[in-house]
Amino acid sequence: MKINSQKLVAAAANARDGSVSPYSKFKVGAALLTKSGEIIGGANVESASYGLTCCAERIALFKALTDGKKDFVAVAVVARWDNGPMPCGACRQLLAEYAPKAKVFIADSADLKKIRTFTVRGLLPSAFTFND
Ligand code: THU
Repeated sequence: MKINSQKLVAAAANARDGSVSPYSKFKVGAALLTKSGEIIGGANVESASYGLTCCAERIALFKALTDGKKDFVAVAVVARWDNGPMPCGACRQLLAEYAPKAKVFIADSADLKKIRTFTVRGLLPSAFTFND
């Protein structure tokens, strides 16, 4: 299946509008693509108890998983950051568990056409999981 990275990045940019980030003001959007072509978006949500903040990638993943979605083939992440925002370690772990085969598209919201491509495996080699 040919993945349309531009479309998925656009969906992540769209999802970013839902960011609830009153403390950092750093808006992040993520979008997951399933094998069947469905796209699930999410954005970061922050708490006054800062450590409770949840990243856009995990919000999108938790939304998708609790809606019964699986077989993720790609995830896009967008924020206003030069060259785009790289997923944090916690998100890499969750992606390694639930989207191990996914490609990862990263883009700056100010330049959505410049997409950097990674893989979940490449971003967290030798991940701890009970899958294999
Ligand atoms: N954030 C994400 O949503 N994804 C990342 O990959 C890195 C960080 C959010 C969490 C917090 O709301 C804000 O960015 C600043 O860390």
